[in-house]
Amino acid sequence: MIDGVLDLLACPRCGGGLAERDGTLGCAAGHSYDLARQGYVNLLGGPEPANADTPLMLQARARVHAAGLFTPVAELVAAAARGGSPVLDVGAGTAHYLVAALGDDPDAVGLALDVSKAAARVAARADPRVGAVVADVWRPLPVRSRCVGTVVCVFAPRNLGEFARVLRPDGRLVVATPGSAHLDGLRDRHGLLRVPEGKDALVAAAAEEFFELVDTHVARYRVAVEAALARDLIAMGPNAFHRVPDDVGAAEVSIDVTVQTYRPLDR
Ligand SMILES: C[S@@+](CC[C@H](N)C(=O)[O-])C[C@H]1O[C@@H](n2cnc3c(N)ncnc32)[C@H](O)[C@@H]1O
Ligand SMILES: [Zn+2]
Repeated sequence: MIDGVLDLLACPRCGGGLAERDGTLGCAAGHSYDLARQGYVNLLGGPEPANADTPLMLQARARVHAAGLFTPVAELVAAAARGGSPVLDVGAGTAHYLVAALGDDPDAVGLALDVSKAAARVAARADPRVGAVVADVWRPLPVRSRCVGTVVCVFAPRNLGEFARVLRPDGRLVVATPGSAHLDGLRDRHGLLRVPEGKDALVAAAAEEFFELVDTHVARYRVAVEAALARDLIAMGPNAFHRVPDDVGAAEVSIDVTVQTYRPLDR
């Protein structure tokens, strides 16, 4: 694991720093964690929860990203995160948005955190500037306090208190949430999960305890997708945990995503 990323990590059992030796990461107190052959480290200390992304979901998402369907969203995330290394992407999935956030800065570094081992495996290979860990956002993050420049959280669960703890006082939080029109064109036809109206306002209200909202951008557009990609749009997200329909045809689909930037309140 690259040094800039290793410096961010904290032992999940004692909070001490981690150093690499002989294929493991260890702290001064003697706790140690295997570095997987694929380049990620598992700091979860237990089984994956049921909502961890599966390899099939990750493959579907990688095809959707490769087709450029979310490029305007990635551009908003990249603009919000510019110059904000080191970047922590929580619920990183394939690390698509993390790599966008690192931009073209060769010295930037990023840590992809996800509860899915399959995701960590993909993220660890996404870019030489990225390191990947398996961890649960609902537990104390295995990240040292006040050392992260930007926390990125795209369509993933948010532990706002922990995000505030790991951010430097001059750092920022970039959150992307789906709007109520997201995936219209597929939703009614295939009975997809509904996105509640005003999700971005709910996030802003929850964040008030730790953060000040400083910027909001919306990416809202329609894309024409052929049948295979339309199916991938369903298979890459939480709908995949319910059912991916067999009869997905070509469709015109709405993308509706809000990207908010927050700065930590003075503490
Ligand atoms: C909808 S996906 C978004 C992935 C990525 N940010 C993207 O937009 O391409 C949500 C991600 O959050 C991860 N996740 C779900 N619950 C989590 C948890 N408790 N802790 C960490 N990651 C979690 C999933 O494994 C999945 O990769
Ligand atoms: Zn330890």
